[in-house]
Amino acid sequence: MILLTGGSGQLSKLTAQGTKDAGLDICIGSRLAEETDTGRRRIDFDDPETLDFSDVETLMMISAGYAEDDVVIRRHDAVIAAAIRSGVRHVVYTSLSGTGDHLAFSLAHRWTEKRLKDSRLAWTVLRNGLYAELIGALAAPLDGVIRAPFGTAPLSPVARQDLADAAVTVLKDPRAHAGMIYELSGAEAWSVADLAEKLSVPYRPANLEETRASLAAAPLKPFQPPMLMSIYSTAAAGFLEARTTDLAVLIAGAPRPTLPIAAEAARAAGS
Ligand SMILES: NC(=O)c1ccc[n+]([C@@H]2O[C@H](COP(=O)([O-])OP(=O)(O)OC[C@H]3O[C@@H](n4cnc5c(N)ncnc54)[C@H](OP(=O)(O)O)[C@@H]3O)[C@@H](O)[C@H]2O)c1
Repeated sequence: MILLTGGSGQLSKLTAQGTKDAGLDICIGSRLAEETDTGRRRIDFDDPETLDFSDVETLMMISAGYAEDDVVIRRHDAVIAAAIRSGVRHVVYTSLSGTGDHLAFSLAHRWTEKRLKDSRLAWTVLRNGLYAELIGALAAPLDGVIRAPFGTAPLSPVARQDLADAAVTVLKDPRAHAGMIYELSGAEAWSVADLAEKLSVPYRPANLEETRASLAAAPLKPFQPPMLMSIYSTAAAGFLEARTTDLAVLIAGAPRPTLPIAAEAARAAGS
């Protein structure tokens, strides 16, 4: 049986649909699952009592970010230790693309990859690029102007659906992908200036100092301002453009165009 974590999350939902369509035997793990649910069970990386994988052959471990590095590392360590204890054969982990090495949240991903490599588990690492949906939402126009300080360098974000499709390919035959690290960025590169043109709105990026000051004054959790600043400054420094991607191989076709996806997300989040 395949267990998919992060069940109420968007990537997990898309992957679950794909695995069901492929006729695979799956169970959904979520912090929100009830004991009476069919095909779902409670999995909370922060609650070791929920981490019993004794009937699980393949664990798709969707990263549980949105926290400080040490918290994410503790969560992922608990899951991998439980997978080893429970006799799980294969762990598929959703990591972060190599283009994201300078992002504030890369440490926990690289730590988790190392923890898997040093274990005796079979594993596959899906190094997911930043979602086109995320870039679109962060670059949403406010009062008709894009002000997010992404600079003008090209980025290679990826459609979340493509990442789910890539995961399904691996879940259909995990052994064929054992020991593989797949770099999954989008196949095309565009800048936030291109996004502005697509949306027919002006792009007048704020400078990084102003943005840092306004994030510091916003009602955010402590990890959020550095996380957001690292996305803007890494993009502006030109590091989010991918030179290669394994996506087309895993999804056996052309990746989805990402500029329209980002534009739709920007329209939905904008004002
Ligand atoms: N590549 C990118 O651009 C990007 C952007 C945002 C996030 N991410 C990372 O990729 C993951 C999947 O993305 P997504 O789009 O599906 O994000 P999402 O829709 O925000 O879902 C995140 C899911 O993480 C799970 N989670 C949070 N804390 C957890 C915990 N303590 N134990 C177990 N699960 C926990 C939750 O699942 P339940 O509530 O069902 O337990 C939640 O639904 C995220 O969790 C994050 O680590 C990547």
